Amino acid sequence: MAKADKQAQLDQIAAEIRSKNVCPDLAKTANDLVFGEGNPDAKIIFIGEAPGKQEDLTGRPFIGPAGKVLDQLLESIGLKREDVYITSILKYRPPDNRDPRPDEKAAFWPYLSAQLEVIAPQLIVALGRHAANCFLPELQISKAHGVPQQWEGYTLLPLYHPAVALYNGSMRQTLLHDFQQVATFAKKDK
Ligand code: URA
Repeated sequence: MAKADKQAQLDQIAAEIRSKNVCPDLAKTANDLVFGEGNPDAKIIFIGEAPGKQEDLTGRPFIGPAGKVLDQLLESIGLKREDVYITSILKYRPPDNRDPRPDEKAAFWPYLSAQLEVIAPQLIVALGRHAANCFLPELQISKAHGVPQQWEGYTLLPLYHPAVALYNGSMRQTLLHDFQQVATFAKKDK
């Protein structure tokens, strides 16, 4: 599928989330939908947990403090945001950044699946346990981080959430180390 057609399909999925009023309670408290952005033809998709304050205000994923860490991690392997696609499981900010509830994750899941189908990435990077456990519920992020897994024909790489590096320098090192796995995929041909 041509890149422009992929973007048009992604736009349609975003429009559907609004028109079907997915997670009306969250939609009410949130400022805006944070659907995702990046290259619709990307080989690599990054999936976080849920939008935070900055994301909610702008409608863009990972642009707050955790997003700055993600930018640095991408830069460490020579990638830019425009090279990849970035989204989260929840498309609306939960009030006070509370943990996403199971029913909220389930409500957004079909739309995330649809995003994956359109983008057809070679690698899904799940950022943090909330994202990773949506794919592989039994996975323990402390054991499996940086270890590629298989999920429904996709390769899935679970990583710690970039926000952990904001308070913990050794976690930053772990993330930098694990990102080398992302680099390996980035070098492969699509
Ligand atoms: N954390 C996430 O998981 N997603 C965002 O978009 C921002 C912070």
